[in-house]
Amino acid sequence: EMRRLTAPDIRARKGGDPIVMLTSYHAHTARVADQHCDVLLVGDSLGMVMHGLETTIPVTLDMMILQGHAVMRGSKRALVVVDMPFGSYESSKEQAFASAARVLKETGCGAIKLEGGQRMAETIRFLVERGVPVMAHVGLTPQAINTIGSFKAQGREEADWAPIEADARAVSDAGAFSVVIEAVAEPLARKITGQVPIPTIGIGASPACDGQVLVMEDMLGLTPRVPKFVKRYGDLGPGIEKAIASYAEEVRSRAFPAADHVYGMKPKKG
Ligand code: KIV
Ligand code: NA
Repeated sequence: EMRRLTAPDIRARKGGDPIVMLTSYHAHTARVADQHCDVLLVGDSLGMVMHGLETTIPVTLDMMILQGHAVMRGSKRALVVVDMPFGSYESSKEQAFASAARVLKETGCGAIKLEGGQRMAETIRFLVERGVPVMAHVGLTPQAINTIGSFKAQGREEADWAPIEADARAVSDAGAFSVVIEAVAEPLARKITGQVPIPTIGIGASPACDGQVLVMEDMLGLTPRVPKFVKRYGDLGPGIEKAIASYAEEVRSRAFPAADHVYGMKPKKG
């Protein structure tokens, strides 16, 4: 079946087959991931991965829309979820709706994601009631880097569990169709998955989550430093380096282009 998956399709996967989600920022990576994944996330991690930024803070709505449109063009089946970047949704529910409407209209994607639990619940309800499917994101929320100080795992002491559980419950009650749980102690992520009626998507969370997500370039071995929760399923960095080094060498030695790569003349007529 070629119909594209929808937010309600993903919502219905609670407790079922694990949801496979991976980031993608471009048409070419989307085309490959679309064959194997249920959800493609155009994450604001693109600021760090594609643009070399230190954090996701400088990422703009225009950057997200440009890459979201590319991922839609490259995919046919997966639900495409586009991250709302820092500053595009926090000041009011109206601001959030205006930004989300631009994302849906200009990319054609099926849902947006935003960071925050209880503090974003009213906004999530406002968006969902107006036709914007929302994936929430709790636990470690990288856009809060300047108030939390560093990217570190959450809920590793039981005293810290209650607010994170309340965040997950709040976004679920507000109508989010799914929630990413990032860098949260495994027993807490497992507990939350059992508590909320919507699918949890783990990243540094728990195998008990209803799905998993990773940053594609991290799992392919294309990024220099990765958090503990990343498993390297590939080591593509050295392969790319080797190919580029060979190209440079062959251009310099005039071994490239060879006869196969150049155009001869058409045979003369008559
Ligand atoms: O921006 C991103 O890639 C994300 C995932 C890590 C969940 O938000
Ligand atoms: Na993100």
